[in-house]
Amino acid sequence: MKYAFLLSLLVGSTAASLPAINVTGNAFLNSETGERFYIRGVDYQPGGSSNLTDPLADVDVCSRDIPYFKDLGLNTIRVYSVDNTLSHSECMEKLADAGIYLILDVTTPGTSISRSDPNCSYNADFLQNIFATVDAFANYTNVLGFFAGNEVVNNEDVLFTAPYIKATVRDLKKYIKARDYRQIPVGYSAADVASVRLELAEYLNCGNDSTARIDMLGINDYSWCGHSSFTQSGYSEKVKMYSGFSVPMFLSEYGCNTQGTREFTEVASIYSTQMSSVFSGGLVYEYSQEDSDYGLVKIDGDSVSPLEDYNNLRSMLNSTSDPQGTGGYSTSYKPSKCPTDWNFTITVPDTPEDAQTYFDNGAGAGYGFEAETQESCDNDDLSSVSSQSVTSAVSSTASSSSTKPSSSSSSSSTTSSSSSKGVGGQVQAGTFFSVFMILSALLIQ
Ligand SMILES: *[C@@H]1O[C@H](CO)[C@@H](O)[C@H](O)[C@H]1NC(C)=O
Ligand SMILES: *[C@@H]1O[C@H](CO)[C@@H](O)[C@H](O)[C@H]1NC(C)=O
Ligand SMILES: *[C@@H]1O[C@H](CO)[C@@H](O)[C@H](O)[C@H]1NC(C)=O
Ligand SMILES: *[C@@H]1O[C@H](CO)[C@@H](O)[C@H](O)[C@H]1NC(C)=O
Ligand SMILES: *[C@@H]1O[C@H](CO)[C@@H](O)[C@H](O)[C@H]1NC(C)=O
Ligand SMILES: *[C@@H]1O[C@H](CO)[C@@H](O)[C@H](O)[C@H]1NC(C)=O
Ligand SMILES: *[C@@H]1O[C@H](CO)[C@@H](O)[C@H](O)[C@H]1NC(C)=O
Repeated sequence: MKYAFLLSLLVGSTAASLPAINVTGNAFLNSETGERFYIRGVDYQPGGSSNLTDPLADVDVCSRDIPYFKDLGLNTIRVYSVDNTLSHSECMEKLADAGIYLILDVTTPGTSISRSDPNCSYNADFLQNIFATVDAFANYTNVLGFFAGNEVVNNEDVLFTAPYIKATVRDLKKYIKARDYRQIPVGYSAADVASVRLELAEYLNCGNDSTARIDMLGINDYSWCGHSSFTQSGYSEKVKMYSGFSVPMFLSEYGCNTQGTREFTEVASIYSTQMSSVFSGGLVYEYSQEDSDYGLVKIDGDSVSPLEDYNNLRSMLNSTSDPQGTGGYSTSYKPSKCPTDWNFTITVPDTPEDAQTYFDNGAGAGYGFEAETQESCDNDDLSSVSSQSVTSAVSSTASSSSTKPSSSSSSSSTTSSSSSKGVGGQVQAGTFFSVFMILSALLIQ
């Protein structure tokens, strides 16, 4: 009886469902235990934006990588784009079995807020497609949250797109409510643009209409480079600046690579009480080695080779525990005040009328990676906006690199730097299989 139960766990016939994570004050809590939840994550999009592939729709791909997530000690991954026409149930169940949550960006390169023509890109087709993505994932309790956008504002000159981010957040929250789904957090992943970072964060978290406020905020932060420190990196300033921010914050991308091999010494700060009253962990950019040279592993077909960064991250995560107790979170912080000095209207645009039917009747089938909901918009690049991002007029692409330290992008042309990285301590997928076989054999007796 007992063995049969264990065996059924092993063969995965009883799909585990993880306790949902909820937002309480400025923290994430495990909704079953009430314990604080700190994100220990990586950003995951093998192929990047140049070979956009949905890694959660291909069970061979996610099964190849999940053992490495477990080996790293992760509890969360972030995926930048998925194909909402495909099934994700096998990968989502495998992630749940491994104790791993998902933060999902609901946009795709063809379906996102355009920096050059935001009002045009914020249309009913856009909403239908991102709502269809919500439909495809809302049932999984290991969805930690959705991002409505990634680095739309990557420069102070495009701050005027912010009301469209807020409108997208509002519509996603309204849709989740209208469809009677679990209250899944909706947030935004911000580029670290020094001149507007606080203003934008506060705007997204301001106003009397709670529906038009973010539930969580990710910041993509590459300020800790090499052997830095809490103060030298500027982390200490950020903790000060965001203290009192009323929703959970975390690093939705971190891992500066300008000093060569990354030692990830920032991990000790991120999961310490120096940070935990404001930040709830973070995600390392990024799992797979791509042109931008931020990978933890090199992927070649079915084979995965951990790089030095991988081993460094694994040992830092393993030697760093979460803070004890509450970590200093608070439920008494108030939403932010709306800005009064912006030189454009901060009014959140109304939902396009044609989209009303989706709230009433559901979004129906999505259009996957084929969707081009901004096709008829003016998508000309804004010369000042971004010189690096491949699809810079499109805000939310898989590896939008516009705010990463500039030397990183230059390294993409020198393949030697990545190939010279050693492959120490490879984890063989076969090991996991052998362990599985041995355990099964023991239990079957
Ligand atoms: C989140 O879950 C914990 C544990 O069940 C509970 O105490 C808390 O009230 C929940 N918070 C919200 C906002 O539902
Ligand atoms: C793109 O990704 C697919 C799926 O992972 C893979 O089979 C293919 O080889 C990749 N193409 C290139 C050019 O890397
Ligand atoms: C935004 O687009 C809608 C629909 O095309 C249009 O009715 C509205 O006037 C536009 N608003 C602005 C500020 O351009
Ligand atoms: C989610 O669950 C509902 C209710 O059980 C079901 O009708 C719907 O088809 C499920 N959606 C997905 C994508 O599995
Ligand atoms: C508003 O301010 C920004 C940032 O200072 C500036 O780039 C932009 O040109 C201004 N826009 C207008 C309409 O004055
Ligand atoms: C928000 O609500 C407060 C208190 O009800 C009110 O004084 C204030 O004018 C409202 N602000 C806006 C922007 O509606
Ligand atoms: C470190 O690894 C050991 C052995 O796998 C494990 O028991 C422990 O929980 C890990 N510690 C952390 C903080 O992940």
